[in-house]
Amino acid sequence: MKTLKKLIWSYAVSMAFLSAGNAQQPRRTPEQDSLFAKMQRDTRADHQQMLSQLGITTLRQGANGSDPKAPNAANYDESKANPYPELPDPLTLKNGKKVKSAQVWWDSRRAEILEDFDQEVYGRTPANLPKVKWELMSAALEKNGEFAVVTKKLIGRVDNASFRDIKVDIQLTLTTPVEAKGPVPVMMELSFVFPPGMRPQAPPANEPTWQQQLLAKGWGYAVIIPTSIQADNGAGLKSGIIGLVNKGNHRKPDDWGALKAWAWGASRALDYFETDPAVDAKKVGVEGHSRYGKAALVTMAYDQRFAIGYISSSGEGGAKLHRRNAGEIVENVAASGEYHWMAGNFIKYAGPLQWKDLPVDSHELIALCAPRPVFIGAGDKGDGWVDVKGMFMAADAAGPVYRLLGKKDLGTSEFPAIETSLISGEIAFRQHKGGHTPAPNWPVFIDFASRYFQAK
Ligand code: GCU
Repeated sequence: MKTLKKLIWSYAVSMAFLSAGNAQQPRRTPEQDSLFAKMQRDTRADHQQMLSQLGITTLRQGANGSDPKAPNAANYDESKANPYPELPDPLTLKNGKKVKSAQVWWDSRRAEILEDFDQEVYGRTPANLPKVKWELMSAALEKNGEFAVVTKKLIGRVDNASFRDIKVDIQLTLTTPVEAKGPVPVMMELSFVFPPGMRPQAPPANEPTWQQQLLAKGWGYAVIIPTSIQADNGAGLKSGIIGLVNKGNHRKPDDWGALKAWAWGASRALDYFETDPAVDAKKVGVEGHSRYGKAALVTMAYDQRFAIGYISSSGEGGAKLHRRNAGEIVENVAASGEYHWMAGNFIKYAGPLQWKDLPVDSHELIALCAPRPVFIGAGDKGDGWVDVKGMFMAADAAGPVYRLLGKKDLGTSEFPAIETSLISGEIAFRQHKGGHTPAPNWPVFIDFASRYFQAK
């Protein structure tokens, strides 16, 4: 059973990567093919079950990202990208009053925004979740490039006394420099698991990896595997942490989706870091790319202990405005391949409701990170699907909340030329000239983070 599961996940991840435009054909075995087909059938059945709960009979179709001649081809024409230019105001309370002080933000408005995201977008993280016990599996002295490091392999065992059929073991590794004089800042990546032979995101030969760039600053890094917390497909919603809490039953429309579950697991990793003397737990940041960019942003927004975020190519469901018609749209995320990231309720906005009916938009998700620093990044060619401009507009529209809290916004509302680093405020933005990869923005993110992480 375990190997079967592993096969399904690794196959699903490789397929997702291919659909996101990442090359290198994985080898498929007939066994993988049939497992994948079963996973898709189960996913469609779960999606249909959620549609029935919502009383939805038809959904609008998503944008086609691969065929520009298709009738539903994704839009890349800026003149057609803003059908609903008016965004909900993060600084107006539900009762119509303007938020004029930091205190009203913290006491009232922030909670209203969280409630809307919980109910309609990402779902509610259940109260009283089972405890996680971190076990150190190994600690190894290693070299990463020229750096001597200690790498700890950890497993977070989730208490399943309430439902023994489901077991959740969270996979985490933590690497810190051997020569550190005290606790160090750590960047944690929410990471894809790649089948053997597939290693995207590698920087060009002779250039340091992101991990080596962090070590060069004297910082550490951690890698958490989100699919060890919650599977990355609808078929898996009756297992993982979501299934454990629901005792193997279907979700209800406002139950949490995978993004919230992954964010919960990231927070449990931070609980562990708070107990590890090698880590400065007040200086732990979170990074993720693509679907894990969405998850990293949700993590930052909901858990205020994370000090900084690097949100790479997060697109629809992440930093991109839902109200924009560019690249991927709400309808794609509401469809059976991606709805599991979100609350069931989110599907309503792909029929019968419209994007403009969403009570919140992603600028308010970024605003929930305030006053902490957040870096929104993306690429150029091959990364149009994430709607780079829509993410910039969201970052810009989060500015008033940062300013209210005494921090600096992006510094401009004008969409910058490629490779312009907007890193002078607490909201940072950069579009690199590569494709769908976080690699080229790492050095700039590290510059940005140095303002907050450098030892005094
Ligand atoms: C697809 C999906 C995106 C997602 C990406 C990924 O392209 O439409 O929303 O970010 O996969 O995570 O690889």
